Amino acid sequence: MCGIVGYVGSNSSLDVLIGGLRRLEYRGYDSAGVAIITDDGDLVTRKRAGKLVKLTSDLEHTPLADGKTGIGHTRWATHGGPTDGNAHPHLSADGRLALIHNGIIENFASLRDELLAEGFTFSSETDSEVAAKLLGREYLAGGGLAAALGRVVVRLEGAFTLLALHQDEPGVVVGARRNSPLVIGLGDGENFLGSDVAAFIEHTSRAMAIGQDQIVTITPTSVRITDFAGLDVDAEEYEVLWDASASDKGGWSSFMAKEISEQPDAVANTMLGRVHDGQVVLSELAELEDLLVGIDRIIVLGCGTASYSGMLGKYAIEKWAKVPVDIELSHEFRYRDPFLTPNTLVISISQSGETMDTLVAVQEAKAKGARTLSICNTQGATIARESDAVIYTHAGPEVAVASTKAFIAQITALYLFGLHLARVRQTLPASEIAAALVELSAIPGKIATVLKSKPEITELAGWMSDSRAILFLGRHVGYPVALEGALKLKELAYIHAEGFAAGELKHGPIALIEPGQPVFVIVPSPRHPNSLHAKVVSNIQEIKARGARVLVIAEEGDAAVLPYASEVLRIPLAGPLFEPLLTVIPLQIFAMELATAKGLDVDQPRNLAKSVTVE
Ligand code: G6P
Repeated sequence: MCGIVGYVGSNSSLDVLIGGLRRLEYRGYDSAGVAIITDDGDLVTRKRAGKLVKLTSDLEHTPLADGKTGIGHTRWATHGGPTDGNAHPHLSADGRLALIHNGIIENFASLRDELLAEGFTFSSETDSEVAAKLLGREYLAGGGLAAALGRVVVRLEGAFTLLALHQDEPGVVVGARRNSPLVIGLGDGENFLGSDVAAFIEHTSRAMAIGQDQIVTITPTSVRITDFAGLDVDAEEYEVLWDASASDKGGWSSFMAKEISEQPDAVANTMLGRVHDGQVVLSELAELEDLLVGIDRIIVLGCGTASYSGMLGKYAIEKWAKVPVDIELSHEFRYRDPFLTPNTLVISISQSGETMDTLVAVQEAKAKGARTLSICNTQGATIARESDAVIYTHAGPEVAVASTKAFIAQITALYLFGLHLARVRQTLPASEIAAALVELSAIPGKIATVLKSKPEITELAGWMSDSRAILFLGRHVGYPVALEGALKLKELAYIHAEGFAAGELKHGPIALIEPGQPVFVIVPSPRHPNSLHAKVVSNIQEIKARGARVLVIAEEGDAAVLPYASEVLRIPLAGPLFEPLLTVIPLQIFAMELATAKGLDVDQPRNLAKSVTVE
């Protein structure tokens, strides 16, 4: 939530800031703004409500003086609606200092009262302006910008990333963070700050992470990191493996269309280097190896799509590694005083690695003595760094707000983990592990086959664009797929959608069925031993008898569904646990195409942000 970029160097900061904001726009897109110290030594700002294009066209019509020090922000509104006035940057009382903020300052009301009593006035309804006014006041007390920031951050409660610059300190940008993301980009004669590496990836792949409760000062030739008390701390440099062009649309109509098409690679790349001689070897688990043999329980945490990949992980890990697995939403886990033992492993799943609820849930798990593993897609992300170990998914940058390829990569990583655990705990013969890996290796090719049905799905979505509600049913691993199919539709097409476990049908959902009600049903293969195929077909009959319009996702050649289905979308045969990696694809495409048919922006759906860094 909220994209932040800062620059000091010898180039046009406006170019760097706007380029960075374009790549960060997925974090928030209800307003955008920049502040620059011009080459003449003035502080200038420009900010506009609406998507970034509003700001850029405004800058084209009325250019802003440029300079070599600047900060930029793209906002997802929390306190105060999306207006020009509430957009960042915010200024100090004397107008010589500008500040941008991501997060929520929970005690802003009392701080604001304090400042009002001193005669300060405010031009926005935001919590962020309070930080700008406080920092301006502290700056006047002396010691420079970083020292002033140190005195301000200790007064703030909540989560924040702050960046600031001051007219009297050209060539300096300072930043601070607590439970909200901020990374440094290291250039040659220039340095960058960003909410994530996308902010500066087109300029440098050298990055440095900033820890919790730390302050950073960048100049064109130096980076200094301290704790809030001003004591120097060390940080490690790392190489960002993402290719800058990977976060471009590359000729596709949307990032989502591109990312859906990249799913075969998301699986293959996540497996790469982790399979040797028919076994999974996850060297990144070395820290946890002592725990894995005697582990008594696994709790998987995540939000949104990540939680559905976690549900699928439960099916696989319990079956293969014989360890009880609970899946829980991060925000429920953290507030219920969970009971954990030192033999509990808490696995957090997060594409961004920055989702606030998941981050705080991991901190809660650690405080209660559990060991932690994260599955993240973003290198150096906070959740990854705060966990005892991390398995990175290699889906590449995911820009569209609704997650697709990251979901597929998360399932792949969880399955690799399950097979690794099964080897360590000797709960599955080597031959069965090898067979599962053969299945997984075949998935990229099978996803490519499913992707070929896109024209058929587009046509179906076009017919259904005026639907008022769509239901999704699945059993076993088809259930999380039903939930994910419904979530995608809600997120992108703003259509009421619900996913149900097919076994629950007669306990309530069947009351929703009336003539013409569209229902997607995820049908397992009839060829698996103990297949639930017959049970699902009988659910189909039950809804068909009540007039539902049945849309089926079923294996090639499954003729049993034909008498009842208005539409059948086919997937190739895959083992029972592997079907979700295929059955979810038509549902992703369906949601995207239906949103497109309604003329909606599929990459930036209303009210949503890709990375939810506030509670
Ligand atoms: C937001 C995004 C979803 C994502 C969820 C979790 O709601 O819009 O697409 O699944 O956050 O994000 P994470 O980065 O933790 O996977």
